[in-house]
Amino acid sequence: MDADIIRILIPREEIARRVRELGEQIACTYERENDAGITVVTILSGALIFVADLMRQLPLKMKVGLIMVSSYAGPRTSPGEPKVIHGLNTDVAGRHVLLVDDILDTGGTLRMVRRRLEEAGARSIRTCVLLRKPAKAPPDVQADFIGFDIEDAFVVGYGLDFDDQYRNLPDIAVLREEIYARRRGGGGGNDRFASPNDQ
Ligand code: IMP
Ligand code: MG
Repeated sequence: MDADIIRILIPREEIARRVRELGEQIACTYERENDAGITVVTILSGALIFVADLMRQLPLKMKVGLIMVSSYAGPRTSPGEPKVIHGLNTDVAGRHVLLVDDILDTGGTLRMVRRRLEEAGARSIRTCVLLRKPAKAPPDVQADFIGFDIEDAFVVGYGLDFDDQYRNLPDIAVLREEIYARRRGGGGGNDRFASPNDQ
């Protein structure tokens, strides 16, 4: 697995430190305004590891909801429309929702899930992402809590994948270009923008 990585972008210690800070910031925000508790809605699969760590930094009354979203076929240079693979498993009507995702890239995923939460009657919605690729998301899709702004490179680890692999890397790392070039060249259609891909 290490041979597929060019370099580590964010080491595990730095992730852990930032997750603790985010926890303090989020707890402080919600403590001020509500004591009815929150619902943490996680977008699977990419946010799986992040949310597990983040939740344990939040000394708040909470329920947990899951939604599984996938990106679909489209031109290789642009992600397809995100599609819900498994719908939200909890009722958010009247609830304060913290929506958690791994990365804010073009913003399509957060926009779509946010709309669903609004339609489901959430009382408030705030969003938290571990990573953001700056300048890519349109102004209508912003996150309230952001771990790190990163360069526009394809990253894996700490839950983020390429072709559903590398999620178990403890650090966030940049994947060698040959890895995805090879898959594309092989005609397998495994480019993340060219085939259904677990988030
Ligand atoms: P968006 O809908 O374009 O904002 O993309 C968000 C989703 O695309 C994230 O939830 C990730 O699953 C995936 N994604 C975007 N950039 C990367 C990356 O660099 N590595 C791995 N997954 C990514
Ligand atoms: Mg994701």
